[in-house]
Amino acid sequence: MRFGVLTGGGDCPGLNPAIRAVVYRARQRGHTVLGFLDGWKGLRDDLTRGFEDVDLGPLVGKGGTVLGSSRTNPFTTPEDADKVLRTLDRHGIDVLIAIGGDDTLSAGRELARRGRKVVGVPKTMDNDVGATDWTFGFDSAATVAVEALERLRDTADSHHRVVVLEVMGRHAGWVALATGLAAGADFTLLPEEPYRPEELLQHVRAGVARRGYALVVASEGIDLGAKGSVGGKDEFGHELLRERGVGAFLARQIEEQTKFETRSAQIGHIQRGGPPTLFDRLLATRLGAKAVDLALAGRTGEVAVLRGSEVVGVPFDEALRSPKVVGPEWIDLLHTFDG
Ligand code: F6P
Repeated sequence: MRFGVLTGGGDCPGLNPAIRAVVYRARQRGHTVLGFLDGWKGLRDDLTRGFEDVDLGPLVGKGGTVLGSSRTNPFTTPEDADKVLRTLDRHGIDVLIAIGGDDTLSAGRELARRGRKVVGVPKTMDNDVGATDWTFGFDSAATVAVEALERLRDTADSHHRVVVLEVMGRHAGWVALATGLAAGADFTLLPEEPYRPEELLQHVRAGVARRGYALVVASEGIDLGAKGSVGGKDEFGHELLRERGVGAFLARQIEEQTKFETRSAQIGHIQRGGPPTLFDRLLATRLGAKAVDLALAGRTGEVAVLRGSEVVGVPFDEALRSPKVVGPEWIDLLHTFDG
């Protein structure tokens, strides 16, 4: 069998171990793999790389993706869709393994609907793919954000300030939740909850009263009502949330209302770089190998996911049914520790 593999959407730690696992597993089972560069753009424009002369071993600990990535949607025009099919035929690809978040997996499902064999592997620092308990990339990104808040704690303490850390995560609050819980924020704002300025100020005041400073974590996707949408959009129609600057907005509000000196920091893409954590290395490796196993078992049209401690295959439709957002039990736990 000849496999194709691509990585699409925002990069995250774990992509390289997943690619490595696809290539090793396929080779070990007697098959070959061709990489497509820069996500779906590589399939549309026929940009490829082989793995024959690459030492894939060290990739297990490297962030980013050796295949490159982009947010290209190949099914926006019939011409582009035809180009994708022609590229697959030209290279004699039997099964495509598409590694990505909701957008990349949706494009994978579309390709499957057009009669091609596709297996999906979910990834994203946002952890918002519905069918899998965790996505790789999330643990690494949240670990970086936790370290960032701990560093901000030192400087907030020295200057007796309030500091707001804005983290990414799109419309799911997983990264903010993990950061607030694991680094001990006084208050954490999630997209899953309405903005409650009075509660925010109350916990900031309590933190400052107790120890002279306070820490706030805000997810980039929180709804601030009137502040509305100001960001541009990507090719899949998603608003570029970081352009809204919710952290800076909250810092201004806090300073105005409390008169405490307040600063904000936007960690941004720093969360997406660097080596994958142990958890992400293992999850990515298991899912990459599982994707090949699913294909060899004739189970294309499925996505390899984590359910409990098992990696299993589920149909694309099930994997894409609804995004995974932070539920009430997590939210209850989070607010147990408000300042
Ligand atoms: O989906 C991953 C993510 O990092 C989001 O958390 C963030 O909103 C977005 O990508 C940023 O996109 P870009 O890398 O295109 O700026």
